[in-house]
Amino acid sequence: MFSSCLFVFLLFVKCVSILGSEISFVYENQTIGLKKEDGETCMSVTFQVKILNEQNNNSVPIDFHLPSGLIKGKCAVDRKSEAVISSTIDETDGRKKTLKFIFRTDEMRVKRVDELRWQLNKVVYVEKYAGSSAVFESDNSSVIFSAPLTQKYVCEDRINVTLHSENFDFPILVMFAPEIDVQPYGPKSNFYLCERTRKRTLSESLQNRSTVFCGVVLALSSIAHIVGHMLRRHFMPHRKELYENLDRLPAIN
Ligand SMILES: *[C@@H]1O[C@H](CO)[C@@H](O)[C@H](O)[C@H]1NC(C)=O
Ligand SMILES: *[C@@H]1O[C@H](CO)[C@@H](O)[C@H](O)[C@H]1NC(C)=O
Ligand SMILES: *[C@@H]1O[C@H](CO)[C@@H](O)[C@H](O)[C@H]1NC(C)=O
Ligand SMILES: *[C@@H]1O[C@H](CO)[C@@H](O)[C@H](O)[C@H]1NC(C)=O
Ligand SMILES: *[C@@H]1O[C@H](CO)[C@@H](O)[C@H](O)[C@H]1NC(C)=O
Repeated sequence: MFSSCLFVFLLFVKCVSILGSEISFVYENQTIGLKKEDGETCMSVTFQVKILNEQNNNSVPIDFHLPSGLIKGKCAVDRKSEAVISSTIDETDGRKKTLKFIFRTDEMRVKRVDELRWQLNKVVYVEKYAGSSAVFESDNSSVIFSAPLTQKYVCEDRINVTLHSENFDFPILVMFAPEIDVQPYGPKSNFYLCERTRKRTLSESLQNRSTVFCGVVLALSSIAHIVGHMLRRHFMPHRKELYENLDRLPAIN
């Protein structure tokens, strides 16, 4: 009886997870994500987003605060399937704005090795108003963020993505700003620093590092000097004798 109940329960859990009924969450008013029934985070996204509608040469971007919207999405069922997260904000004037991020995985050749990586492959912006809707999408070929499957993407630099619509002749710019921290394929510990940030921090820390390096070299060389001196005295006692005997040499006048 108990085991059959357990079986039904497990079947139920399995069905729910296949249907992808992950629970959304907002963390510290800046991170949005999805959790499985067991409480494990399967998707976590942190970045500031601004949207610039370039109609009429507009240059004033509007904040799209992801955690303020209704969060929906689905986690990847397996390593090869898609993962989605979206946020929908209802404006007071009746406009409904949705920003959606679609992730997928792809086999990529990195340093002559095929590696399974996840990528933010598509950004979609939908605005609904008075029964009509406008859809803007990034290009199919774009890879906005990418990291090895087991790693999260971390970036301290700004990134712009251009979205186009079939029905409008102006683009929309989605502007990502730090902190950027994206982990769409489950909880992972180590992280992948984006190329731009890596290069910048490397050149920034080069000066600091050379200072530290010089300090270390100085410290090591003085230790080596002391040790060398001690060793020399230890292994060459005859020399010591020689020095001591110098005193006893008869003075030659
Ligand atoms: C979250 O952040 C947004 C934008 O920074 C702000 O408008 C909102 O009041 C904040 N909400 C909470 C609950 O702190
Ligand atoms: C937008 O800018 C372009 C080039 O700067 C100009 O040719 C065009 O007339 C402008 N359009 C509007 C609506 O201001
Ligand atoms: C992008 O992909 C979608 C779905 O795969 C397809 O319907 C659409 O035509 C593609 N767009 C372009 C510009 O290739
Ligand atoms: C993104 O676009 C804005 C507006 O055109 C521009 O001011 C900014 O320099 C761009 N940033 C990057 C990193 O391309
Ligand atoms: C380099 O050193 C300065 C002060 O000595 C510090 O403010 C800065 O954060 C350091 N940069 C790195 C990358 O460690």
